[in-house]
Amino acid sequence: MTEQRFINTPGAISQLPDVIAAFNAERCLILFTNSVSKFSSIEGAIRALPGTVKHQQIVVRDRIPNLEALLVRYKELRSFMPQLIVAIGGGTVLDTGKLLSAFLPLESIDRESVLATTSLTTDPIPIIAIPTTAGSGSDATPFAVYYDRETKYSLEDLRLVPQVVIADAELTATLSPRQTAISGIDAICQAIESIWAARSNEESRRYAVSALDLLLPNLAPAVRAPTPELRSKLLLGANLAGRAIAITRTTAAHAYSYCLTAAYGVAHGHAVGICMLALLPLTLPRVEKERLQLITAAFSTDEPATIEHSFRNLLEDVGLEPTLAALNLNSPEILKRILREVDPNRLANHPQGIDSNALLARLRLE
Ligand SMILES: [Fe+2]
Repeated sequence: MTEQRFINTPGAISQLPDVIAAFNAERCLILFTNSVSKFSSIEGAIRALPGTVKHQQIVVRDRIPNLEALLVRYKELRSFMPQLIVAIGGGTVLDTGKLLSAFLPLESIDRESVLATTSLTTDPIPIIAIPTTAGSGSDATPFAVYYDRETKYSLEDLRLVPQVVIADAELTATLSPRQTAISGIDAICQAIESIWAARSNEESRRYAVSALDLLLPNLAPAVRAPTPELRSKLLLGANLAGRAIAITRTTAAHAYSYCLTAAYGVAHGHAVGICMLALLPLTLPRVEKERLQLITAAFSTDEPATIEHSFRNLLEDVGLEPTLAALNLNSPEILKRILREVDPNRLANHPQGIDSNALLARLRLE
């Protein structure tokens, strides 16, 4: 894959026409998240597109990327057949862009053929990602994630990594404090998980540590009193966390979170944060010394045992309920379902497995 171009300056959306022109595409699909479709800077950038570029715009309102929506959009867009996809939004819009990039070039698709696809045999359509939340990491990863009913699927191909990312902090200015918190916690968990993941290597750890150095000190200030500088740091931190998990994948905190999101509507990053808090004391003692030091250093401590407390404080500081109890989601049925529905393959990337009774006790936390 060619190196991703990452443009990280407030107001960078104005460069979109030049970035698009460099692709020499005649037909361009532009996907928006609802909240930014009326941004004047985006409207201006689209008005300034070269006249030779035909474009179609779609507002993506799906709560999570899903198979049903993909099949509908495939039908709508197959005849237009874009040569370039611009995805402006959070994780759902970026994943929608990746799914269309992967499947639109195919002659035909149906539910079964999509579910059976785990890698690509046809060149996907190039993607320009313009993240409007700082956290999903989707702008840096080769994964296209979607749900079918309540099951999560993930397609992987290096060619699905967006070729250009325009990280314009001004586009994240309308995020609510809660949205900023949720996506920031997602990125922080991705970075922590990447460090302790079985598949971690030196390069992934460099990305993950840089991500934590940007995200841990700046998330709470960005939630309380955001500035373009703070938001730029979160966007870069989230991209770096995405690069880290692009190499390592995520681990148990993500694996257990998916059921909470799909079945109980807990926002992705929030669900991951709750699972992370439950897992920290069960996991940190099993992390090898060198990697543990990277995590403790990021939390500015020498004592791994204090990280749980710092992380809980961070969740509360940014306004997120730190436990399932605080969301009234701690009934025995729900806890059992979370444990039952986890994908064992994803757990294999977690350091030395998990004692499910111990985790159950932790998930019951007040
Ligand atoms: Fe995530």
